[in-house]
Amino acid sequence: MSQDDVSLEARLEEQDTFEPPESFVEQANVTDEGIYEEFEENWPECWEGAADLLSWEQEYDTVLDEGGAPFYEWFTGGELNASYNCIDRHVESGDGDRTAVEWEGELGETRSYTYEELLEEVQAVAATLRELGVEEDDVVTLYMPMIPELTVAMLACARIGAPHSVVFAGFSADALATRMNSSDSEYLITADGYYRRGDSLDHLSKTNEGLEDVEHETATIVVDRLGDDLDHSLADGQHDYEELVDENRGETVEPVTRDAEDMLFLMYTSGTTGQPKGVKHTTAGYLAYTAWTSQAVLDLEPGDTYWCSADIGWITGHSYIVYGPLALGTTTVMYEGTPDYPDKDRFWEIVEKNEVDVFYTAPTAIRAFMKWGKEYPEKHDLSSLRLLGTVGEPINPRAWKWYYKHIGGEECPIVDTWWQTETGGHMITTLPGVNEMKPGSAGPGLPGVDTRIVDAQGEEVDAGEAGYLTVQKPWPGMLRTLYQNDERFIEEYWEEYSDPDADEWVYFPEDGAKIDEDDYITVLGRVDDVINVSGHRLGTMEIESAIVGVEGVAEAAVVGGDHEVKGEAVYAYVITEDGYEGDDELAEEIVEGVVDAIGPIAKPEDVVFTPELPKTRSGKIMRRLLEDIASGNELGNTSTLRNPEVVDEIAAQVQDE
Ligand code: WT7
Repeated sequence: MSQDDVSLEARLEEQDTFEPPESFVEQANVTDEGIYEEFEENWPECWEGAADLLSWEQEYDTVLDEGGAPFYEWFTGGELNASYNCIDRHVESGDGDRTAVEWEGELGETRSYTYEELLEEVQAVAATLRELGVEEDDVVTLYMPMIPELTVAMLACARIGAPHSVVFAGFSADALATRMNSSDSEYLITADGYYRRGDSLDHLSKTNEGLEDVEHETATIVVDRLGDDLDHSLADGQHDYEELVDENRGETVEPVTRDAEDMLFLMYTSGTTGQPKGVKHTTAGYLAYTAWTSQAVLDLEPGDTYWCSADIGWITGHSYIVYGPLALGTTTVMYEGTPDYPDKDRFWEIVEKNEVDVFYTAPTAIRAFMKWGKEYPEKHDLSSLRLLGTVGEPINPRAWKWYYKHIGGEECPIVDTWWQTETGGHMITTLPGVNEMKPGSAGPGLPGVDTRIVDAQGEEVDAGEAGYLTVQKPWPGMLRTLYQNDERFIEEYWEEYSDPDADEWVYFPEDGAKIDEDDYITVLGRVDDVINVSGHRLGTMEIESAIVGVEGVAEAAVVGGDHEVKGEAVYAYVITEDGYEGDDELAEEIVEGVVDAIGPIAKPEDVVFTPELPKTRSGKIMRRLLEDIASGNELGNTSTLRNPEVVDEIAAQVQDE
């Protein structure tokens, strides 16, 4: 490092607040700090501005209907179609030639769709779905990799009012079956496979395996992604995508009129207990909220090229690859593959080539980039970038500063956006043209979003103290319920801090947090039994039940332990059944069992066999201690345990490995 670099690093390291660069503020969509007060004074009508970003077939009568709280309804009486809002209206206003989707395949091929082409493709797929029998309100499952057909399929579903349920392609056959059964979904679009680091992955066999466990008949459409690289034959009831869709190219399919509160999609996510939860998002509130946050937080404008590196199989991709950016008429980039193929500069090559204006990624990716070194971004001209974002987990100040300096060249603000599958869109973040940034702290709640940190009794804590994050007013992008499970919806999110008798409803996202004297919130992580691996949510219960399903396993406890790149990794502590040996072979079977049940992201980093699990006198597993062992932390107080000696035994065993 040169002398200059050293002093620059030293200065950066000490600096704990950053003003948004003047060059950014000059052009930003939101620059008036009065927006916070304005929204507060004018709540909930402040959300009319978000609704104004959409085109309505029928104006709404009421911004917020609180009558059935916590089953809130937004923009009631309004009618619209999400596909029309994301495509047709841009074509009608003369922007049909603008690129809507710019796709980069892992092997280097590209495909791009103008808004006009997207319209044609979406109509062809919508016609195909109808031909297959899909009617309004039928749930269509999309189990697809990052190929343009996925975006097209989502918008085709929206066009005919069929809610989609996207299942992340990396999830297992079991996960697919569980979701299809839970949502009674009789239609599936999938692909034969996809590329990962140059290898072709067989996705169709996994799909077929999953379909064996689906309890009803399913019509399946298969996209041929791999061509000759995979020899596959379609079973009865399975159709080749291109064959069907090609017959419908040129068809017109009018967007159906949807009520504001009609379901737009379902997205399954992990919770504390057993089965994944089907989070239900509706049409108007969700679309208005993702469009508004794309404009205010991501600073998107129609002429921008914007890239969010998430997978569409997660909510980030739904809200900020597909719906928000397309509703605004932006060019959205989609990348099929991994950041290190063919080399570790792939992302920067994509940014340079497409002259990306705004880039949105996850802290786990930034930590990997840091590890690989600044020489990779330095090979490319990243000067097109204007704003950077992160999402998925807390970002440590060191990674934040690396991102700020080596990717943003100290000229791009960073928005650290806290939100969830359930919130639909951003909730806590700085507004990039308004607030100063504090690395490690996401920022204040957005205007109109009433975030407060409380103690176990629900009283607000003082600045600097840790507590529980709550949201004390509804917002348009919020989930409406858990699919066919209103009771669980209340139990999971509202019971903890609400006072139903007083009709006071407080949303609890199950995150810990603290707040500083400027109302900046630092999110500390989940307080339930959910692990955040590389920004992806995994329930410990789901993993434990997969492990207990392996022959020879009597009991298992799974915790998250610190991991340099993933943030958290899965650690499994396992008690064998009598007559079984806790050896490498069984450990391998356990790892396979988890991958089969959930997918490779849930793969345990380590499987530790132990004769007992540390338990309190009342018989509860002391997860905190297991987490400390996994993270290599100093072990806390063990005196309340029934079996304190077991902790030292486990710790010694982990150190020996
Ligand atoms: C959980 C939600 C939001 C889309 C991706 C994940 C954690 C998310 C941040 C952030 C600290 C964060 C929380 C949250 N989280 N963003 N900026 N800082 N933590 O969606 O799978 O629903 O997970 O991710 O713990 O509850 P998700």
